[in-house]
Amino acid sequence: MSTAYSELPANPPPMPSEQRARPTEHRPTAAAETPAPVVAPAIKAEVRDLSFYYGNVRALKNINLQFLERQVTAIIGPSGCGKSTLLRCFNRMHDLYPGNRYEGQILLQPDGVNIVSPDVDPIEMRMRISMVFQKPNPFPKSIFENVAFGLRLRGEDKATINAKIEQALRSAALWDEVKDRLHQPAYKLSGGQQQRLCIARSLATDPEILLLDEPTSALDPVATSKIEELVAELRDHVTIIVVTHNMQQAARISDYTVFLYIGELVEVDRTEHIFKNPANKLTQSYITGSFG
Ligand SMILES: Nc1ncnc2c1ncn2[C@@H]1O[C@H](COP(=O)(O)OP(=O)(O)OP(=O)(O)O)[C@@H](O)[C@H]1O
Ligand SMILES: [Mg+2]
Repeated sequence: MSTAYSELPANPPPMPSEQRARPTEHRPTAAAETPAPVVAPAIKAEVRDLSFYYGNVRALKNINLQFLERQVTAIIGPSGCGKSTLLRCFNRMHDLYPGNRYEGQILLQPDGVNIVSPDVDPIEMRMRISMVFQKPNPFPKSIFENVAFGLRLRGEDKATINAKIEQALRSAALWDEVKDRLHQPAYKLSGGQQQRLCIARSLATDPEILLLDEPTSALDPVATSKIEELVAELRDHVTIIVVTHNMQQAARISDYTVFLYIGELVEVDRTEHIFKNPANKLTQSYITGSFG
């Protein structure tokens, strides 16, 4: 299956078309005129020849893909196409079950560490790359202890923990609603608040990438728009990868969109491009609701 990225040169790094300098394009410029530099976001994570197996089931097939720093990338595709499987590779959730196997690499930049290498500690990786799930899943603990969890694991002191908890809850737009009841059980929060608490828990360890797997599908429209606003604010600080079944949501909140189909990457491009003028017929059919 052809991919938009596969036709692009490997060096300089593949970028969607309008962000790349075009070597064949020679516009006349006055001698004194300095051409404006092409400013493109850095690559945050590079997926190289990634396949993933649940036992004998090959759920991801040779994926090559780049995620750009401090950009929001949406992953779309029909049910069962491997969206969650791809996200779970990023924070090594698959390691929790025997028989699962990765092939290929996911390089986390700038240090180039291969996230899926058996030499990389999954616990450390989960602090650098944190994940929020479809159904809010706060721990059966207080609001405070939910957010403190990763910080305690990291051995932070009390003052740092207190400061980071406030910061994370503010970033998740939850602080004002919970600041007077931090030691109450998290389950007393509404569904939308619980999801923002899970986002705060994920943000507390200052992750480099935030993974969101259908973060609003269990929420009402008001809670959904709060999460979407939150994504818009967080994008300045953290690279976000979000799985969604909601095409309008993908169009609203993401800079780039990836379309997966039966474990393969079909197309990736700037979101407006994917939704207005996709290169692949399968993408077109999916976004117009012909299947999936
Ligand atoms: N634990 C598992 N064991 C075996 N196969 C699995 C497991 N989890 C997922 N799969 C298979 O891997 C494929 C991809 O599943 P995945 O959950 O990643 O899809 P998805 O795109 O997230 O779907 P949805 O939109 O329904 O959430 C599917 O064929 C699924 O049946
Ligand atoms: Mg899924």
